[in-house]
Parts: sequence; C-alpha cells; structure tokens
Amino acid sequence: MKSYFSTSIPTFCLLSIMAITSGFTRATKSDSEWLAAEAKALIETGWWSNYTRAENHCTWPGIQCNAGSVIEIDLGGHGLNGNITPQIGALSKLQLLNLSWNSLTGELPSSLGNLTQLAVLDVSYNHIHSIPLAIQKMENLVSLSLSGNFIDYNASAIGLLTNLTHLKKLVTLNLRYCYLSGPIPPHIGKLERMVHLDLSNNRLVGQIPSSVSNLTNLASLFLQYNQLHASIPHEIGRLKNLVTLDLSFNMLVGPIPSSVSNLTNLASLFLQSNQLNGSIPKDIGRLKNLVELHLSFNRLSGHIPSTLGQLTNLESLYLHHNQIISVIPHEIERLKDLKYLDLSYNNLRGPIPYGLLDFPLETFTGNKDLCGSTQGFLHCPSTKHNLPVVILVPTFLFFVSTFALVIFILFRRYRSKTLKSDPSPTKNGDLFSIWNFDGKIAFEDIIKATEDFDSKYCIGTGSYGSVYRAVLPSGKVIALKKLHLLEAEQPAYDISFRNEIKFLTEIRHKNIIKLHGFCLHNRCMFLIYEYMENGSLFYALSIDDEAVELDWTKRVNIVKGVAHALSYMHHDCNLPIVHRDISSNNILLNSELEAFIADFGTARLLDPDSSNQTVIVGTYGYIAPELAYSLVVTEKCDVYSFGVLALEILMGKRPGELLSTLSSSSSRVQNFMLNEILDPRLSTPRTRKMARDIAFIAVIAFACLRTRPKARPTMKLVSQEFLHNKQSPIAIPLHEISLIELKNHEMFMGDENHK
Ligand SMILES: *[C@@H]1O[C@H](CO)[C@@H](O)[C@H](O)[C@H]1NC(C)=O
Ligand SMILES: *[C@@H]1O[C@H](CO)[C@@H](O)[C@H](O)[C@H]1NC(C)=O
Ligand SMILES: *[C@@H]1O[C@H](CO)[C@@H](O)[C@H](O)[C@H]1NC(C)=O
Ligand SMILES: *[C@@H]1O[C@H](CO)[C@@H](O)[C@H](O)[C@H]1NC(C)=O
Ligand SMILES: *[C@@H]1O[C@H](CO)[C@@H](O)[C@H](O)[C@H]1NC(C)=O
Ligand SMILES: *[C@@H]1O[C@H](CO)[C@@H](O)[C@H](O)[C@H]1NC(C)=O
Ligand SMILES: *[C@@H]1O[C@H](CO)[C@@H](O)[C@H](O)[C@H]1NC(C)=O
Ligand SMILES: *[C@@H]1O[C@H](CO)[C@@H](O)[C@H](O)[C@H]1NC(C)=O
Repeated sequence: MKSYFSTSIPTFCLLSIMAITSGFTRATKSDSEWLAAEAKALIETGWWSNYTRAENHCTWPGIQCNAGSVIEIDLGGHGLNGNITPQIGALSKLQLLNLSWNSLTGELPSSLGNLTQLAVLDVSYNHIHSIPLAIQKMENLVSLSLSGNFIDYNASAIGLLTNLTHLKKLVTLNLRYCYLSGPIPPHIGKLERMVHLDLSNNRLVGQIPSSVSNLTNLASLFLQYNQLHASIPHEIGRLKNLVTLDLSFNMLVGPIPSSVSNLTNLASLFLQSNQLNGSIPKDIGRLKNLVELHLSFNRLSGHIPSTLGQLTNLESLYLHHNQIISVIPHEIERLKDLKYLDLSYNNLRGPIPYGLLDFPLETFTGNKDLCGSTQGFLHCPSTKHNLPVVILVPTFLFFVSTFALVIFILFRRYRSKTLKSDPSPTKNGDLFSIWNFDGKIAFEDIIKATEDFDSKYCIGTGSYGSVYRAVLPSGKVIALKKLHLLEAEQPAYDISFRNEIKFLTEIRHKNIIKLHGFCLHNRCMFLIYEYMENGSLFYALSIDDEAVELDWTKRVNIVKGVAHALSYMHHDCNLPIVHRDISSNNILLNSELEAFIADFGTARLLDPDSSNQTVIVGTYGYIAPELAYSLVVTEKCDVYSFGVLALEILMGKRPGELLSTLSSSSSRVQNFMLNEILDPRLSTPRTRKMARDIAFIAVIAFACLRTRPKARPTMKLVSQEFLHNKQSPIAIPLHEISLIELKNHEMFMGDENHK
C-alpha cells in the first residue's frame, strides 16, 4: 500500500492538513473522507491486519473515538513488532498512544510531531533506538514513557533531555533502562510542571544539578542505579512535594544534606549503597510521613538521632553496614509500625532496647559492643567491670551440597539429643572476634565442641567432606564443613574450599550465607557458617509438612531474596561474581524460612582481562542450554538457573520434565494453565495480590529460561522489578494464563522471536 503522505494521493493530504491547521469544523461532505483517511492510516500500521475499511474502525480493539476521530490507541502488551509506520501521524486528534511492552523496532517516526493533541505517549519496553527531534512539537504532551528502549545506545542524556525540555507541559517522564550516559543537564529545571521523573537504571554520571530545585511539583524522583558521583545538592530540600526520593546505588559522596528534613511529605527515602558520610540529619524526625528509610551500605558515622522516634509511620529502617557509633536510642521502641529493622554491621554499643528484642538476631549482628538479654549477646553489665566483648553469632547454619535430605533427617534425630547436653556458660563469647587462621582458643573450642570431630556431631556427608553441628561454649550453634584428610590433599577440593572462603569473606548480603570463620591448616581444614535451622530448599520442598509451611508468601519472598542476592553478586561487586551452581540444594532456609544462597565452591569472577572459558559445572536440570556448546561463562547462566529455581518454587518440584515437554511444543502441555502447575499441596492463592505476585514470578521465570542468553533479563532488572513491586504484566486470573502465553511473553525487552 502506498504511503498516505506520498504525493501520489494529494487529496487526502491536503484535506487533513487543512483540518489540522485551521481546526475548522468539518463539513459533512468531508466527514467520510476524513474517516477513510484515519481508517487507512490505521490499516497501514499493520496492527489491525484482520480488519477492513468496511468496518467502523472505532470498534477495533484498542481504539477509542470521539465524534468519529480516533483519540486513543491502547495496544500495550499486544505482541506488536516491526517499525511504527509514519502514517500514525495522520491521526491528528490522537490524545493517547500506548504501545508499551511490545517488540517495536526502529525509530519513532518524525510524523509523530503532527500529533499536537497527544497528551500521553507510552512506548516503553520496546526496541526503539532513536527519538526524533520532532517530538518537541507535541506541545500538549503530559506523559512520556520511553523506558526500556536502547535509545541511541549510550546516547548522552544531555542531548535527549535538552530536546525534551521544550515539552513544557510534561508531568510524567519515564526514562529508566534507556542506556543514557553522561551528566544530567541543568535544563531539566525547565520542566517545571514535572511531578514524576524517572531517570533510574541508566549510566548517568556527575552531579544532580541544583536546578532540580525548580521542579517544585515533583512528587517522585528516581535516580537510582546510575553512577552519580558528587554530593547531594542542598537545594533538594526545596522539593517540598516529594513523596519518593530514590538516589540509591550511585556513588554519591558527602553528607546527607540537612535540608532533607524539610521534605515533610516524604514517604520513602532511599539513599542506600552510596558513599555518603557524616551523620544522619538530627531533624530527620520532622519527616512525619516517612514509611521507608533506607540508608544502608554507606559510610555514615555519628549517632542515630533520637528524633527517629517521632517517625510514627515508619515501617522499615535500614541503617546496616555503616559506621554509626552510638547507642540505640530507646525512642525507636515507640515505632509501633516498624516491621523491618536492620542495624547490623555498625559500631553500635550499649544495651539493645527491650522493645526491640523481638527483631531477629541478625538485626543487630556485627556490632561488637551491643549487649542485651537475647540469644547471642552478653547480658549487659550491671557494674562497670570489664566483661568480654560479644560478637554475636546469629543463628546459624550451614549447608550441604548434595545430601541435604539425609543430613537433615540425621540432624533432627540429633537435635533432640544435643539439646539435652546443656551448653556450659559462656567462656569464650568472643570467639569470632579473635578468629583467624590459627586462632588458638577458637580452634580448641571447636575441637572440644565436636569432641575432635566425633561422628556423633556429624549431620551429613557431602562429596568432599562432612558437615558438623557444633554448640560452642557460649551456647552458639554453628555449622562446620570439614574436608576429609585425604581430600584435603587433592587440589580440586582445596581450590573449591579456598574459593568459598575468598567469595564469602568478600561479599555480604542479607540473602547470602555468612561465613564466620575458617581454618586452613594441614592438620585440619574447615569452614564455619551460620547455622540454617531449616536446611535446604530442596529438602523443604520434598517433605510435605515442610512444603505446606512454605506458604505462598514465604515462597514469593524466597524468590525475591535469591533475586536480590544474585543481582548483588552480578552487578554490585567490583567484578561480577557468577555462582554457577544455583539450585534448590544450594538455597538454605533459616528459622524464618528466609532464603540464603550457599556453596560458592564453583563461583567465579568474571574478569574482563582473562578468559571466561571453563569446564562445565552445576547441577543437572539447572544448567543453561548454551553451555552445551560454548564454555563461556556469563551471568546469564545464573539467570537461567534462577528461572528453573523460581519455577521449582511455584511447582513444588523440579520443573525439568515440564521444561522439556514445553520445548518439544507438545500442544497439550502448552495449553496448561498456570494454576494447574502450581504446587498442589498449597491451597490456591487467596488474595488477588498473591495471585498477581505468582503470575509475575511465572512471567519472570519464563523470561529467565529463554534459550538465547541475550534474551534473558539481567538479575538487576529482575531484582528492581521486585523491589518496586511492579504490577504483573499479566493481570488476569491464574486459571486464564496459559503456559504458552507465559513462554511467549515479551517482558524485559526480550528480543527472542518465538519460532
Ligand atoms: C487475527 O488474525 C490472526 C491470524 O492471522 C488470528 O490468530 C487472530 O485471532 C485474529 N484476531 C481477531 C481479533 O480476529
Ligand atoms: C500502557 O499499557 C500498559 C500495558 O497495558 C500499562 O501497564 C501502562 O500503564 C499503560 N501506560 C499508560 C501511560 O497508560
Ligand atoms: C506531518 O508529518 C510529516 C512527516 O514529518 C510532515 O512531512 C508533514 O508536514 C506533517 N504535517 C503537519 C500538518 O505537520
Ligand atoms: C556504551 O558505553 C559502554 C561504557 O562506557 C561501553 O563499554 C560500550 O562499548 C558502549 N557501547 C556502544 C555501542 O557505544
Ligand atoms: C537532540 O536534538 C539535536 C538537534 O537539536 C539532535 O542533533 C540530537 O540528536 C538530539 N538528541 C537526541 C538524543 O535525541
Ligand atoms: C529556575 O527558576 C528560576 C526562577 O523561576 C529561573 O530564574 C531559573 O532560570 C530556573 N532555572 C532553570 C535551570 O530552569
Ligand atoms: C527549611 O525550610 C525553611 C523555610 O523554607 C528554611 O528557612 C530552612 O532554612 C530550611 N531548612 C533547611 C535545613 O534547609
Ligand atoms: C566525607 O568524605 C569527603 C570526601 O568524599 C571528605 O572530604 C569529608 O571530610 C568526609 N566527611 C566526614 C564527616 O567524614
């Protein structure tokens, strides 16, 4: 079909231009021509190939008309591909154009500039690579979403944003995951009506321009996951309408400006994972609407301000991994809504306020001068004499690579026995503070606690060693993984042991198992881990009682926890760390049934300076298909294993069979509905939210299982989707979601074309 703009059909062109430019009321006579022109433009997009001009196009799917003119095209998630044809520019009355979550390619046609009535343009999550300058002409644009497109791959943010600042009426601008680089231009301050600005997950560098303070209507500002590298401008305190401020995962330095305490509408303040120093502003208590305050992984020092006790709506407070030196102000006890608290790995001292003792031990770990009447801590001294310092060894656990089942059955038998032998009172409470290669006392304690590794303390045997459960003199329980003497002399086991030590001493994450110490000595090689009460995920799923206890909420949290930990390993460490053996055997569960990734024996750094070729390792059923023909390790291998794991958690068993039938395109299986594969031991999800979470995980799992590594999302992307609690892209009941639909879903800019 010829283009409607081509000179060979001048009549249409002239008529429509007159209509657009003069805005005169159309005479009855030209109405039919007008309609014909719009219908023609629609047909030329190729999106309604089943329809003919004989039908009224206003009834076609995704279209809404007003007085006969198309005013809305809403085709989000409709599997569209190819280019957007320039004819779309003929729909001059269009007010909303939503083409998000498709696989559209090429550039946006510059004829879009003709759509001067357009208020909402959403082309997010496609493969659009270029934005025409003509976009400036859409002077009524209120909401623009370009997220998830590789715009000019590495395009400078200055170019794009400077061009967009002509859109004076913009209220919403979404540019996340657009691969924008360079600094944020000061011109951004011209978009004075802006309410929602999202530039997160790009490669922005430099500072946050102080001109953002002109955006006084701003309610949300998302700049997380960039490489901003300067101090936070004091002017940010002028954005009085801010509800969400997310600057996390950058390299911001200097103090948290005290002006932040003027942002009294703020509900969420995310500044974690930067290099902020100085102390927490003492007036922070003025942020009465604050629900989430995340300041972890910075270099904050000074005190925890007691005004925190005034934040009566606070639900999560994360201050872990900083250098805060104060006592914990007892005012925090007043925060009745506080559900999540993490103060670990600071230099906190003094008593843990009584009202906080309900929080899990891990909340306070890594503060060597804290005391309190809770497991793992010394009682607070009533007089001044010098009690030894306590380091708490949280609940512990550990993990075993292959024989989880055996181990935990043994362990259970055993737990009842050992509990009888009352641990003697703390003698060496400070075991781990002095622990090192040959810390003598610690070593002796361990020999004593296990009666020199007597088999009665053994809770399992793996391929290269045994696992022991030991109760230290302080009453702490730990798990020990010990190499057999013979094996210790074999280089392969030695390497895997050292590998585990290397990674676990360097990385710390809420969902990665903690290594408390190790001994590498001719006489005896062992690792000491926190003890995991509930064993491996594989074990939990294989025992009916345990599987039922792992309800949907806990399973969703396990998937999220593993995703966050993998994202951290792949994207937040100096060099990406690939685990290479993610499986349900290597996910351990603590007493709260929270997930921890364990067994880093086969993990690898992805070092750009050396070859990432290697032998295949991993667990059958979880190994990414490309490893069958290529020995190059990438993060995407873990992503695939994560996909298998996520499905396994939903199904309650390994999905191997399902995956092979799905790939053999047996039509019977393809037509299965999502609810039919869910773990039959759990009742169907009761709430709509839970059903949505499950559908969301299923979509993500299938995206991770794509054959082509490039088509799989990164763990960072997955983790972000979870963190921001995105709506599922499939919002229909589980029994209406078919497996084939999941398999073919286009989420995460997957460019895999299903064959
Ligand atoms: C359009 O045609 C395709 C096949 O070409 C068919 O699968 C689809 O169901 C049709 N859609 C409608 C709405 O008729
Ligand atoms: C566009 O459609 C998608 C999918 O239906 C939806 O999630 C999104 O909110 C829509 N965008 C706008 C701006 O309405
Ligand atoms: C519509 O867009 C095309 C392509 O950019 C352009 O040639 C034409 O002049 C535009 N028409 C109007 C009325 O702006
Ligand atoms: C984009 O930028 C990154 C980092 O600066 C660079 O490694 C990559 O080669 C660039 N890609 C292109 C296509 O320019
Ligand atoms: C911004 O506009 C200029 C022309 O003024 C153009 O050369 C440039 O490519 C545009 N930048 C982007 C990223 O669209
Ligand atoms: C910010 O607003 C002030 C006063 O309205 C104006 O003079 C200034 O040019 C604006 N800055 C930017 C970058 O738009
Ligand atoms: C908070 O706002 C008030 C009034 O606008 C101003 O006087 C004060 O300096 C601001 N405080 C900080 C810490 O910026
Ligand atoms: C914070 O870090 C900066 C360098 O990034 C340094 O100049 C400053 O002295 C530090 N301030 C504090 C309180 O440590």
